[in-house]
Formats: sequence, structure tokens, C-alpha cells
Amino acid sequence: MIKEKIQEELNRQINEELYSYYLYLSMSAYFEDIDLPGFAKWMNAQAQEEMAHAMKFFHFIIERSGKVTLLPIKGPQTDWESPRDAFEAAYKHECYISDCINKLVDLALAESDHATNAFLQWFVSEQVEEEATADAVVKKLRLVEGHPNGMYMIDKELGARIFTPASAAGEEGA
Ligand code: FEO
Repeated sequence: MIKEKIQEELNRQINEELYSYYLYLSMSAYFEDIDLPGFAKWMNAQAQEEMAHAMKFFHFIIERSGKVTLLPIKGPQTDWESPRDAFEAAYKHECYISDCINKLVDLALAESDHATNAFLQWFVSEQVEEEATADAVVKKLRLVEGHPNGMYMIDKELGARIFTPASAAGEEGA
């Protein structure tokens, strides 16, 4: 059985992950709108990954005999000044999510909930990757500033990303 306080915070994290899904889907729409299909595909894959994160929390709460309570999802930003502006926002958002996960770990430890702590460790590692991936694209975009050919190459590179549900769920066979 899961403690009320932890259940409440895990439900809040479902909302954060669903908002992340919404934010990246909105970024995908923005990239479609400015004719960068590779960026749009990358963001779409990122959005799917966030949905998988939300579902990981969803199933964990149920597995611990808790109750999932879905909260309203706030509307995401819909436009950005440039691809770099969007990816800087994505990086900043991932830093915020890392902070949320760290606070959840603090709570789990304070409540001696070792099962929740063990569950959260996958997210602790995942956030290292999430921050690094967004930051790597920001760095590339800084390098190609003012060079349309470079932007075309990044679009091609990002378009190769494929969403794999198994890797997002932290299972074998990614
Ligand atoms: Fe679910 Fe991108 O953190």
C-alpha cells in the first residue's frame, strides 16, 4: 500500500509527464509549421516518450494498490522565436523535470518508501540522458547559426530518430 502523500506526488508527476507530452507535441507542430520535418519528427518521438513516462507512473501507482487521479493539463506554448529557442526551452524543461524527480526521491527517502525510491532510480538516470540530448541539439544549433545548409543537415539527422516504446519504458529489447 502506498502512502497518501506519496500517491499525491506521483499523481502530480503523471501530470508533469503529460504536460511534457503536450509541450513536445506543440513543438512538433511548430516545426511542421516552419517546414522542418526532421525536427518535427524528433519532437513527436520525444512526445511519445513522455507519454510512456506518464504511463510508467500510472502503472506503478496501481501496482502499489493506489489510485490514479488525473489532473487538468495546462496549455503549452505554441510558438517559438527559432528552432534554437524551442530546444533551449526543451532543455530548460528537462532540468525542471529532473528537479521534480529529485524532490520525489527526497520524499520517498523521508517516508522510508524504498519501493518508490527504487522505482524512481530509472527516472534519475533517464533525466541525465534527457538533459544531455536536448543540450546536444542546442549546441549544434548554436554552431550552425546563420548557415542554412547546417540547419538542413541537422533536420536530416533529427529526422532519423525513431520512438521505441521498450526503451522509453525501461524494458529489455530497446
Ligand atoms: Fe519525462 Fe523528458 O522527462
